[in-house]
Amino acid sequence: MEKLVIRGGRPLQGIVSIGGAKNAAVAILPATIMADGPCVIDNVPDISDVHILLEIMSSMGVVVRKDAPHTYYLDGRGLVSSVIEHEEARRMRASYYFLGAMLSKFGKAAVALPGGCNLGARPIDQHLKAFAALGCETTVDHGMVYCDASHGLKGAHIIFDIVSVGATINAMLAAVKAEGRTVLQSVAKEPHVVDVANILNMMGADIRGAGTDTIKINGVKHLRGVDYAIIPDQIEAGTFIAAAVATGGYVRIDNITPKHLETIVSRIREMGGEITLDEECAYVRRRGPLLATNLRTMPHPGFPTDMVPQATVLLALAEGTSVVQEGIWSNRFRYADELRRMGARFTVDGKTAIISGVDSLSGAPVASTDLRAGAAMVIAGLCAKGVTEVGGLEYIDRGYENFVGKLKALGADIERIDDGTDGGLLVREA
Ligand code: UD1
Repeated sequence: MEKLVIRGGRPLQGIVSIGGAKNAAVAILPATIMADGPCVIDNVPDISDVHILLEIMSSMGVVVRKDAPHTYYLDGRGLVSSVIEHEEARRMRASYYFLGAMLSKFGKAAVALPGGCNLGARPIDQHLKAFAALGCETTVDHGMVYCDASHGLKGAHIIFDIVSVGATINAMLAAVKAEGRTVLQSVAKEPHVVDVANILNMMGADIRGAGTDTIKINGVKHLRGVDYAIIPDQIEAGTFIAAAVATGGYVRIDNITPKHLETIVSRIREMGGEITLDEECAYVRRRGPLLATNLRTMPHPGFPTDMVPQATVLLALAEGTSVVQEGIWSNRFRYADELRRMGARFTVDGKTAIISGVDSLSGAPVASTDLRAGAAMVIAGLCAKGVTEVGGLEYIDRGYENFVGKLKALGADIERIDDGTDGGLLVREA
C-alpha cells in the first residue's frame, strides 16, 4: 500500500503554482465532444479524475493527444459509442457530464450511475428533471441512466429545487443546441459553472447569466472547435493557503484568480491568516495565534464545502471553540475520527462539528476518507509533532497534482512510500 510519511513541524516557505480547476476540467473535457471540430484545452490538471475521463473519451472514439504537460488536443468527430458502462462510470463522479454532452450531440445517451467520493447521498434527480423538461425521456434501469430525445430537445423554463453544480452544468450542456430558448433558475454560481459557459460560448453557444441565479440560453445549431485554457483551481489554492497558515510559514501562491478566492481568504483571515491578494498571486503567512471561527458552508459565493476539512485543521489548533455547519453533504465529517487520533478535540452531530482547539497535534497513522479529507490529513501531519502516515492516497490523487512534489518544494518533510503491504495503516518506527 502506498502512503505518505510526514515529519511535521516545518513551516512551509517558498512559491507554489496552482493547476487547472478539477471541477471545471471534468466538465469541459466531456463538453469538447459537442464541437464539430477539434479542441485544444490548456491548463488541464494532471490528476487521476482527468486521466479516467480521458481514458473514457478515448474508448468512445475521441482522438486524445497530449501536446504538452497540461495541454490536450481532443477531436470528437469520430465519436461512435454512446454507452458508458458501470465499470467506467463508477470510477468518478463527473461521468454524469457525458449524459448532457451526448444528449446534445446524438439526441441520446446511456451512462451508468456515477461514483465519486462518499460525501453522502448524491442523487441526480435534478439532472434528470432538467433533461425531461427539455423533452428527453429518461429511465433508470439496473443502475444505467438512459436518455432519449430522438424527437429533438426543446428549450424550456426549468427551476431547480436545489442548487446543484452538476445539474446546472448538465442542463447547460443539454440545452445549448436545444431548439429555442431555455431559462435555468436557482442555478449554481461556482467559478467552474462560469468556465463551462465561457468555453461553450466560445464554441458558438449563446449562454447568458452564468455566475448569477438565472442562466438564459438561446439554442444554436452548431458548435465549433476552440482553444481554451481552464481556470485555476480555487480549492487547490485554498488548500495551500490553509497549509501555509497552519504551519506558520510564508508562501507565495501563483496562478490564482483572486476573485474566486474572496470567501476562502476572508474566512481564513478570521482564523489568523495574513493574506495579501495580488493580481495573479497570494502572499500568505500567519498573523499570530490561530483563532476559533464559526463556519457554515453554502453554495458559491458562500464558503465552499470542499474547503471544510482543510479549514478545520486550522480550527483544531485555534484558541477557543468553533462550530462548523455543513450545508451540502451529510458525510463531510467522516474524517473526524482520523483527526481525533492526532489529538484534535472534534465532536460531530450530523452536519455540525464542534471543534475545541488544542495546543498541538501529534503524528499518527490516519486514512484519507475522501479527497479533501486527505488534504486535511496532510496539513494536520505537516503541523503535528512526530510522524504522521496518511493512507488512502487514491483519493488525494483524484484532485491534487503532484501534491508531494509541491509540498517538498516548500520545505515539507514528506515522502510517498510503498510499504509493501496490501493495506493497513502501520506506523514505521521513526
Ligand atoms: C460538485 C463538486 C463537489 C462539490 C459539490 C458542491 C464536481 C465534480 N464536484 O459536486 O466537489 O463538493 O459540487 O459544491 O464538480 N443534489 C440533489 N439532486 C441532484 C443533484 C444534487 O439532491 O440531482 C444535492 C446533493 O445531494 C447535495 C447538493 O445537491 O446535497 C449539492 O450537490 P451538487 O452541487 O450537485 O454536487 P456535485 O455536482 O455532485
